[in-house]
Amino acid sequence: MRIFVSNGLYQMVIIWVFWQTSKFTHFKKRDMPTGILTAEHIHHTTGLSTCRSFRTNLQWKYVMRHYFITGVSSGIGAALVSALSPHAKITGVARRRDRLDALAKENDNFHPIAADVTDPKAMQSAVNDAIKTSGSIDVAILNAGIYTPQDGSKIEPAVFQQHMDVNYMGVINALAPIVADMTDKKQGHIAITSSVAGWRGLPKSAAYGPTKAALISLAESLYFDLFPKGIKLQVICPGFVESEATAINDFEMPDLLTSKQAATHILNGLEGDDFIVDFPKSFTRKMKFLKYLPDRLFFKFVARQTGYKKQS
Ligand SMILES: NC(=O)c1ccc[n+]([C@@H]2O[C@H](COP(=O)([O-])OP(=O)(O)OC[C@H]3O[C@@H](n4cnc5c(N)ncnc54)[C@H](OP(=O)(O)O)[C@@H]3O)[C@@H](O)[C@H]2O)c1
Repeated sequence: MRIFVSNGLYQMVIIWVFWQTSKFTHFKKRDMPTGILTAEHIHHTTGLSTCRSFRTNLQWKYVMRHYFITGVSSGIGAALVSALSPHAKITGVARRRDRLDALAKENDNFHPIAADVTDPKAMQSAVNDAIKTSGSIDVAILNAGIYTPQDGSKIEPAVFQQHMDVNYMGVINALAPIVADMTDKKQGHIAITSSVAGWRGLPKSAAYGPTKAALISLAESLYFDLFPKGIKLQVICPGFVESEATAINDFEMPDLLTSKQAATHILNGLEGDDFIVDFPKSFTRKMKFLKYLPDRLFFKFVARQTGYKKQS
C-alpha cells in the first residue's frame, strides 16, 4: 500500500514537473526572437496579465527587438525597415549614405550604418557599432544582394566574381561576427535572403542563381551547428518583387509583388517555423514543381515558357 501511494505521489510529481517544464519550454520557444510579439502573444503563451503598466513593460522588453538588416537602402530591405520601425530597434546597412539618411528621417528607432558587405572588417565594425548602439542583436536579416542578367554564351568572370562577393561572401562577412555573438548568448535568429532562382538554373541567371543556391546549401549546413546552440536559422526565397534589382528585367514577371508586400511575407515567415520562407505561394508552388521535374522536361518546359529556342 505504502509503495502504491509513494508510486502514485511520485508519478504525480513527475506529471507536475513535466507540465511545468512543457509550459516553460513552450514559452521559451515562443519567446525566441521570431518577429514582433504583441502583448496578446505574451498573454497567450504565459497567461500573464496584460494590465496597462505591465503591458508597457512587456512591450518594451519583448517587442522592441533589435533587428540587424543588410541592404536597406532600397527595395525589400527599405520596406522591412518601414514595417518594423514602429515596433523594433533596427540597424540597417547599405552603401548609399543619402538613402540611409532619408530612411532615418522617415523611421523611428533606425540606426543607419554605411558599409560595404564585401568588406569583412567593415561588417565586423558594423556589428560592433550595432550592439553598442542598440544592444545585442536579436534578429539578423542578411538581405543585401545584386542581380545582373547574364548571357551565358558570353561569360564575363568579373560579373560572376562580383555576384559571389556581394551575394555570398557578403552574407559570410556578416555571419562571422553575428554568429560569434549569438553563440555566446546561446540565442538569436538569422534569416538569409536567397531566391527561388537558387532552386534551379534559370535563363539569364548564370551569375546570380549560383550565389542563391550556395546560400541555401550554406544555411542547411550551418543549421546543424547553430540549432543546438539556440540559434534559429531560416532562408528567405522570394519570387519576383518590384525593386531596383528587377527594374532591369525586360520580360513580364509573373505574380510580381511590391516590396511592401514582400516585407509582410518575410516578417510573417520569420514568426513561423519553416526553414524555407518562400512567397508568393501562387508562384513558388510552380517553381517547386520545376525543382523536382526531370532534367529533360525541365529544360523543355522553361525554354518554352521563357521563349528560349533551340539554335539552328
Ligand atoms: N526583387 C526580387 O524579385 C528578388 C527576388 C528574390 C530575391 N531577391 C533578393 O532580395 C534581396 C533584396 O533585393 P531587392 O530586390 O530589394 O533589390 P534592391 O532594391 O536592388 O536592393 C539591394 C540592396 O542591397 C544593397 N547592396 C548591394 N550591394 C551592396 C554592398 N556591396 N554592400 C552593402 N549593401 C549592398 C543595396 O544598397 P546600396 O546599393 O546602397 O549598397 C540595396 O539596399 C537581394 O538579396 C535579392 O537577391 C530579390
